[in-house]
Amino acid sequence: MLPTDILEEEQEQQNFQTYQIYQKMRRIAFYRLYRTAKSPIFIGFAALFFAICYIYIFQPHFPDELKKSYFGEPDLIITSPPIQRRSLNSPNTYDIGILLIVSEGADLSEYQLAINTLKCYSKLHHYGFHIEWVNNTWYELCGQKQFMFIRHCIASNLLHKHEWTLFLDADVAVINPTRLIDTFVQENEKVADLIFFDRFFDWEIAAGSYLAKNSNYSKEFLMKFANSEFSLPNSFSGSDNGAIHWFFVEQFFGNYTSQLNSNDCYKIWEISKNFDDLFVYEACCRLILGETRLFHDPSGKGTVKVLPKGEAWMRDGWITDTKWSQEVDFMLHGWKHSIEMPTIDEANAWSRASFRLKFGKWYRAIQNPTFDLNSCSNGTITWKWWSTYMISKIELQNLLMKKRVKVRQQFFQFQALIPKYLKKL
Ligand SMILES: *[C@@H]1O[C@H](CO)[C@@H](O)[C@H](O)[C@H]1NC(C)=O
Ligand SMILES: *[C@@H]1O[C@H](CO)[C@@H](O)[C@H](O)[C@H]1NC(C)=O
Ligand SMILES: *[C@@H]1O[C@H](CO)[C@@H](O)[C@H](O)[C@H]1NC(C)=O
Ligand SMILES: *[C@@H]1O[C@H](CO)[C@@H](O)[C@H](O)[C@H]1NC(C)=O
Repeated sequence: MLPTDILEEEQEQQNFQTYQIYQKMRRIAFYRLYRTAKSPIFIGFAALFFAICYIYIFQPHFPDELKKSYFGEPDLIITSPPIQRRSLNSPNTYDIGILLIVSEGADLSEYQLAINTLKCYSKLHHYGFHIEWVNNTWYELCGQKQFMFIRHCIASNLLHKHEWTLFLDADVAVINPTRLIDTFVQENEKVADLIFFDRFFDWEIAAGSYLAKNSNYSKEFLMKFANSEFSLPNSFSGSDNGAIHWFFVEQFFGNYTSQLNSNDCYKIWEISKNFDDLFVYEACCRLILGETRLFHDPSGKGTVKVLPKGEAWMRDGWITDTKWSQEVDFMLHGWKHSIEMPTIDEANAWSRASFRLKFGKWYRAIQNPTFDLNSCSNGTITWKWWSTYMISKIELQNLLMKKRVKVRQQFFQFQALIPKYLKKL
């Protein structure tokens, strides 16, 4: 070969090597890029980048909306007009007391806002207000072991304090202090000794609140209800709110025969293991009770009334996500601090924000930080509401109507399961 040829050959080889290295590097570069693109961190950053672009360019209000969905959304404060106090010398004014019963050692801070509204409301309208603690004296006197049952025995023993007693769970708040308990007494005093009501969110009679006349029949009825603890089946029984259904069936429909045998309901209750089973048992009882609203004791000694959904002094606040109407609502149930949605400026707001996932969560629809009892007593107190939660009567009725239809459908579904349960027995 000629030297130039050799040179050329070397050159070519070198070129070829460079080319190979170049190719290899390209492959590595591609691989790196590919690997980066596949790494979760890169994907995360890319997603974040696009999300931020999206939020700030197309959805500038998104962060606000997100915060609102996590936290309460306090905004405008609406002050109630001066509250017209209850007249004490009208014929429609009754001797009425509010009674809360709490277990010994209960932490009242859990119910603080609710209790404050009740205390103030009682002072404002001159209602009696009493919190009774379940202590050993009561356990000896009454004999029931479970708090949920003994409370009805205690209520029975304390009815003598007033002509009418409104028994309430401790987590009931007065949202609208212009409404009066007297209205409910007046409407029912001629027809019933005891007034219960249907819960809105299912087909249960509520066991946690009733209006009771100071009559022998009321006392006896509540005492017997308390003693229904002793015939609880050893199953997922739903405590007193499960027991009240069987109690009504037994008291008022004991000898009735319909296509359903009432003992069948008890048998379903006996094998209940969870809420679904419990709801089937309750649907079974409701089928026996039918559309009855006035329950006359077979002995003729007294009458119990059960108000239809949405017609009582209170309702569960969560069924409308704390939205309420000044024209309709009176008291809201479920205001426990442990499921209260925080407001954004609260110290633990972020950690408590997950409460939005909890059943029954509620928003502090009342702005009053405290209720000064002197102002309540001299009638100068006003309720201050956050306007976000206030809706019109029509809007509330629409929300409730949707809920009503849904609950009705669920009731049909659950009652349709009864034959399946009876086959299992
Ligand atoms: C329990 O409470 C009642 C009424 O509040 C009171 O009279 C009684 O002394 C209390 N008993 C005990 C053991 O604390
Ligand atoms: C209620 O019961 C008490 C004691 O058993 C009795 O003395 C009283 O006459 C009864 N009252 C009515 C109105 O029946
Ligand atoms: C069922 O019948 C018995 C015996 O006749 C009677 O004592 C009881 O009061 C009746 N119960 C009901 C709920 O009607
Ligand atoms: C009512 O009580 C409040 C708080 O003690 C007081 O500031 C106010 O002056 C009182 N108003 C009247 C009219 O007594």
